[in-house]
Amino acid sequence: MMWTWTDCLCVNLLFLLQRAGSERFEVLGSTRAIVAVAGDDIILPCYIKPNISAEDMRVDWFRVNLPDPQSNIRVHLYQDGRDKYHDQILSYRGRTSLFKEELKKGNTSLKLTRVQGTDDGRYKCLVESKTHFDDSTVQVNVRAIGSKPEVSIEGQKGGMGLLCVSKGWFPEPELEWLDSEGVTLSAGPSETDRNDKGFYIVKLKIPVKETDNLFTCRLRQRQQHEVIKMETEFHIPSEPILVHTDTRKVALAVIGSLGIFLMVILAFTIWRWIALCNDYEILADQLDLVNMKGCPELETIRKHAVDVTLDPDTAHPKLILLKTGNKWRRGDIKQDLPDNAERFNTVHYVLGKGGLLLRGDSTMRFR
Ligand SMILES: *[C@@H]1O[C@H](CO)[C@@H](O)[C@H](O)[C@H]1NC(C)=O
Ligand SMILES: *[C@@H]1O[C@H](CO)[C@@H](O)[C@H](O)[C@H]1NC(C)=O
Repeated sequence: MMWTWTDCLCVNLLFLLQRAGSERFEVLGSTRAIVAVAGDDIILPCYIKPNISAEDMRVDWFRVNLPDPQSNIRVHLYQDGRDKYHDQILSYRGRTSLFKEELKKGNTSLKLTRVQGTDDGRYKCLVESKTHFDDSTVQVNVRAIGSKPEVSIEGQKGGMGLLCVSKGWFPEPELEWLDSEGVTLSAGPSETDRNDKGFYIVKLKIPVKETDNLFTCRLRQRQQHEVIKMETEFHIPSEPILVHTDTRKVALAVIGSLGIFLMVILAFTIWRWIALCNDYEILADQLDLVNMKGCPELETIRKHAVDVTLDPDTAHPKLILLKTGNKWRRGDIKQDLPDNAERFNTVHYVLGKGGLLLRGDSTMRFR
């Protein structure tokens, strides 16, 4: 039988079609999202059907549905029988691998270790042979339970405030402040941050009203089928701490100065009292002489009574003459007086003008 060039062509085409047909495959993943708990290892399913070997194919894992779909992020690349890491994104470094034994069976699943917040999202698995390619996607939902909310007191402009902070969450939780009756308080917008592993840190502040002293910071994280709730109560001491120290200082200062003031008053009163007592003592002594009712000589004394004016030039320096000129008392210190020849120096005497001698240690009143 003779082969024409057209027959040859037909056989060749048939052969090529057969070959191409034998390499046709479908890539399958999972229609259900993979729920990944932070820190765990997960498998992102992907396999080809029929189960031909994928060892010689190109297996490309990357992130999709990012803000800019053109700039897909490379997660893992297997090509020419080897893993290629040159353009792998940094956050996946050292955490991805394929199952090499499974590749022979068309299993191109990806293992991702130590799941973190940044891993949350949609992944595409693209498998490409020399003549054919197909892909499938899989959704990864990361779940991280963070720390219990922590409350601290904060000084704020025009008063005191409370700050509630909670860390390590995925997805982002909500914070709210409640008063002692469980009523939501209006606070400013909550602050949200993500750490380098993509976990959320949330913060919420409120100014403290003096009318209330029990506050609750409530955190809520909505997950697919459940809501995780955590609460931290904060009791403010009846006197706000910041103001407390100030009033105590002021009170101490007031009490201190009041004490000093009272002591000064007391000392002055005592001093006045002592001085007054001295005067009264003198007066009492003087009255004794005048009121010598039982004294039989009283009348005689009165009969001979004379008005005496004291001679200041003769008074012992310790004797204090009163301005009236007819009274004196003995002081404790020597007064600085001119040293007259007629002045008594050793005994506490004074002469009356006209020659009467008066002893300074007894007291007399003259009329
Ligand atoms: C492919 O799948 C068939 C049955 O579906 C199985 O018998 C066969 O062992 C599989 N081949 C490989 C390489 O796993
Ligand atoms: C692919 O390999 C992984 C790891 O051994 C296994 O858990 C998974 O079930 C395999 N998938 C299929 C479709 O065989």
